[in-house]
Amino acid sequence: MAKIRSQHVCQSCGHVAMAWTGRCPDCGEWNTLVEQAAPKPRPAASSGRSGGNGRALAAGPGARPQALRDVVATRVERLSTGIGELDRVLGGGVVPGSLILLGGSPGIGKSTLTGMAMANLQASGVETLYVSGEESAAQVRMRAERLGPAALDVRALAENSLETVLGTIEAERPAVCVIDSIQTMHSAELSGAPGSVGQVREAANALAEQAKRLDVAVILVGHVTKEGSLAGPRVLEHLVDCVLRFEGEKERTWRTLRAVKNRFGATSEVGVFEMRSGGLTEVLDPSARFVEEATGAQGSVVLASMEGTRPVLVEVQALVSPSELEVPRRVVNGIDRNRLSMILAVLARHARLGLGTADVFVNVVGGVRVDEPGADLAVALAVASAQRGEPLSGPDGRPLACFGELGLTGDVRYVAHADRRVAEAVKFGLSPVIGPRAGERLKGLTTCVTMRQALKSAFSGSSASGRAEAA
Ligand code: TYD
Ligand code: MG
Repeated sequence: MAKIRSQHVCQSCGHVAMAWTGRCPDCGEWNTLVEQAAPKPRPAASSGRSGGNGRALAAGPGARPQALRDVVATRVERLSTGIGELDRVLGGGVVPGSLILLGGSPGIGKSTLTGMAMANLQASGVETLYVSGEESAAQVRMRAERLGPAALDVRALAENSLETVLGTIEAERPAVCVIDSIQTMHSAELSGAPGSVGQVREAANALAEQAKRLDVAVILVGHVTKEGSLAGPRVLEHLVDCVLRFEGEKERTWRTLRAVKNRFGATSEVGVFEMRSGGLTEVLDPSARFVEEATGAQGSVVLASMEGTRPVLVEVQALVSPSELEVPRRVVNGIDRNRLSMILAVLARHARLGLGTADVFVNVVGGVRVDEPGADLAVALAVASAQRGEPLSGPDGRPLACFGELGLTGDVRYVAHADRRVAEAVKFGLSPVIGPRAGERLKGLTTCVTMRQALKSAFSGSSASGRAEAA
């Protein structure tokens, strides 16, 4: 089969080269050249000698814009996947004809989640197609057997040829189709290896075009590198309607599903799952599970965080130990590393808690990620507790709950949904909660204006100082 012409385009400056080089000869950036199908030469305009380079684009015939009021928009029914947490993260179910990218590291449970969703959809009468480029049909069946009898009704195709997959979708016209994974799809028309950026982009483009044309919802499964970016198909994020990230520690059973981008719903919605022997089960009340596990030991606090529209209590742990390195270590899990640097600087400057010669480790338990400024105070209190070697739990051993953003001036700043955070903590018997002043007076909230005040309240309520006072 004749290869179609391809070219290499720099993703940084747009330079077009015929062959791949590690460094763009134009802008000097490294690893930015990406193989693409070369645009087809346009026959008509450049017939004479006048055509070709440097000529301005001629204007087309033009079209008549319409007031949005007059645009006809039919309300589409969403398809429920039968998995409440997945539907919620998607904004109420799968929109027909939409393109969803589900990213996650290998072994996290992407095939399990999509397999379960397809089983439920098929059971409710929605035609499904499961394309596996990684596993044989027999392997897919083995997983389906673990997921229950409904999963065996899903129609599967083990294939990595993009052309065959497109042809099958065209012929079968499923309502929802899973491509597991997009990195294994391979077009014979391009020279790049499967998984190369050029191949992935071409495959996604072709599938996107077909999805919109035939009104097939397509779920693209994508592998994510250790650094957390989608391997190669970072370039896909603008192409799809919805980007979901499936995260968690592989050794632990917790999984969180997060919408990073969603054209049909809110982002920052989070679904929590647990991997069991019969597939993934939804965790409807994650706070209960996380609080139950919280130790209340030194270096541990409970953060009243917001995951989308839902308050969730998570445990934040810190460890401080003398460093043997010139540049001490700052290791984080579940929070942003730069945010930790800022919090340590604020602690050093405004609480005289210098940690310049200590390694600092911060971990959000359960493999959860908290990407909100409201986590600052929890990190600061956990680090302070670890550094002083004093637990912050109350005399009854219950962990301390808190939330709030830290300003560079050492103030504790207001964050949204203070009422719901406090209510969630109170519900689990974690009061008083330490946090910034809210608009109204909240029962169970101990307010503080500065971080020093927060530290004082936190340590005065702790069991260690309680014992000290008693002694
Ligand atoms: P899988 O969905 O294959 O992950 P991915 O597609 O993201 O690579 O599943 C990964 C793990 O889940 C695998 O190690 C086995 C485990 N698992 C269970 O614990 N219970 C189950 O019911 C299933 C299907 C898988
Ligand atoms: Mg898989």
